[in-house]
Amino acid sequence: MTKQRLNLGIIGAGMIGKVHAENLAFHIPTANVLMIADINEQAAHETAERCRIPKAVKDYQEIITHPDIDAVVICSSSNTHAQIIGEAAEAGKHIFCEKPIDYSLERIDRALALVEKHGVKLQVGFNRRFDPSFARVHQAVISGEIGEPHLLHIVSRDPEPPTPEYVKTSGGIFMDMTIHDFDMARYLIGKEVVEIYAAGGVRIDPEIGKAGDLDTILLLLKFEDGTLGTIDNSEKAVYGYDQRVEVFGSKGAIAIQNNYPNSAIISTEECIRRDKPLYFFIERYQESYIRELSSFIDAVLNDKPTPVSGLDGRVPVVMALAARKSYDENRPVKLLEIE
Ligand SMILES: NC(=O)c1ccc[n+]([C@@H]2O[C@H](COP(=O)([O-])OP(=O)(O)OC[C@H]3O[C@@H](n4cnc5c(N)ncnc54)[C@H](O)[C@@H]3O)[C@@H](O)[C@H]2O)c1
Repeated sequence: MTKQRLNLGIIGAGMIGKVHAENLAFHIPTANVLMIADINEQAAHETAERCRIPKAVKDYQEIITHPDIDAVVICSSSNTHAQIIGEAAEAGKHIFCEKPIDYSLERIDRALALVEKHGVKLQVGFNRRFDPSFARVHQAVISGEIGEPHLLHIVSRDPEPPTPEYVKTSGGIFMDMTIHDFDMARYLIGKEVVEIYAAGGVRIDPEIGKAGDLDTILLLLKFEDGTLGTIDNSEKAVYGYDQRVEVFGSKGAIAIQNNYPNSAIISTEECIRRDKPLYFFIERYQESYIRELSSFIDAVLNDKPTPVSGLDGRVPVVMALAARKSYDENRPVKLLEIE
């Protein structure tokens, strides 16, 4: 493509759709958003007005069939992604799609086959790869700076659980929340996970249990090279968004702590304290959202591979299915059992 700016359409004007719309409008000069669609037309109109998007519509088909739109940014509910990917690919649009691609490997494979057939680019929204701290851990492991990795610990706790309404289409904690940590595990160690053992419970909200989901989990991961990992998820950390990682290896370790709104330390007679970490993903990962969409646009404009491929979107879904099976059957599950 010889253009300076990419013409985009956004599908979905919910929580993450608004974040991407604002970033595309105000922080990414190579983006030109022509239209936004949401079945909730008012949400589409409000975001269009705030982000100076020329047109808001109810039906995403208007975006997919628009001749001037080069690429779509799919931010609708998780249960719509695979269908929209397939339709966008058939219309020759490049695709950025939020995680997860789908909960069903059959539907994912159908969508990825259409992407392949029509030669369009696809990037999946694993934004944490674009966070400078996580990227530094990745670099330390891949370059051998901490030697051969032995242990990985991921702590990923939300400040508040999702609403029961959201849980209906989210696919559950493994597909919706842990999926980011599954992606991080692969990305940080640079190897595939071969086995998962999951323990979990409902410790926060009985409504989540009634919806068939879990809100507190601990996972043990075994990687192909023998590295061991843990993922610790809670949907309610009273002190705010808790996002920490450590990789321990033969020549040392690398760890990242939480990000804070300020660096002030308050010392009194009683204690020494600081303010709570940045509240949630929108604040904590703000920079990563800008960087992931800038990378997608760069990949399309300059015909480069996207940095998070369809396969990178698929493998964490296999991991989520293995984790759920492990929890249900109370035993370690090999990823090969899922394929
Ligand atoms: N990468 C991240 O950090 C991150 C963060 C939040 C959400 N997400 C993902 O983004 C997606 C949306 O999450 P959210 O929190 O914004 O949810 P949300 O419920 O706030 O928004 C979803 C929006 O999609 C709209 N929608 C549903 N079906 C549609 C359709 N057929 N056509 C057009 N619009 C449709 C809904 O009306 C709603 O406005 C989910 O897949 C979620 O997993 C990713």
